[in-house]
Amino acid sequence: MEAWIGGERLHLGAEAEVISGSWYGRSAIMKKRRPRGWRHPDLDRSLTRKRMNNEVKLTIWLARRGAPVPAIWDVDIEESTIIMEKIQGKPLIEILHSKEHDEELLIKVGKSIRELHRNAVNHGDLSTNNILITDQRESVLIDLGLATREYELEGFGIDLHVLHEILRASHPDIKKAMDLVLKGYLALDIELGDPEPAPGGLPPNAEDVVKRLEQIMKRVRYHGG
Ligand SMILES: Nc1ncnc2c1ncn2[C@@H]1O[C@H](COP(=O)(O)OP(=O)(O)OP(=O)(O)O)[C@@H](O)[C@H]1O
Ligand SMILES: [Mg+2]
Repeated sequence: MEAWIGGERLHLGAEAEVISGSWYGRSAIMKKRRPRGWRHPDLDRSLTRKRMNNEVKLTIWLARRGAPVPAIWDVDIEESTIIMEKIQGKPLIEILHSKEHDEELLIKVGKSIRELHRNAVNHGDLSTNNILITDQRESVLIDLGLATREYELEGFGIDLHVLHEILRASHPDIKKAMDLVLKGYLALDIELGDPEPAPGGLPPNAEDVVKRLEQIMKRVRYHGG
């Protein structure tokens, strides 16, 4: 049996092409990074590699820690491809547009983000396209090409602020939606206690991150974005 059998294309963006298929009979996707014509080929190759390495390394690390990210099954650095578990569901943006969300779901989204932050990983691109909601209504985070290890409050605050700005554009009742996400974010620390030390230090607790987010929001309002 061939390992990978490709099917339909799910996504064609500026950075990546995503194809649905199966890998040893399991439902999978192949994410292929696309060359960026306007960049010098050498620079392009090295940036592509860097992002891919990043995505693979941090996603595997998070999966091992039990955080909600897809399992990575195969990687080809030369071909710039990653094969990973296909998450059956829809991006949060679609769920919000079709009004399929409820309070419980937004709380879960907040918890899923906090799971990354508790493991000292900053997502780096927390858009409602990169949060997948499974058919079982679980929240899974994808697209970790811009993720970083993080220990400073500011970095985590900015991660949440990116999501806040995006929700503002796509959701009429932004305050309520973000409040529910933050409720989940804070609830996970109440359930699990303060975060444990990660390889490079101690991630800050949820309450301090949310306070920092509030400061960032004030700063942005004051300076007009
Ligand atoms: N593991 C997965 N399971 C199901 N769908 C996925 C998975 N990974 C990616 N997708 C789908 O493919 C889309 C693009 O993937 P991803 O976000 O990783 O690429 P990207 O870096 O944002 O690409 P670009 O920047 O070119 O738009 C996602 O928004 C999602 O709909
Ligand atoms: Mg994406």
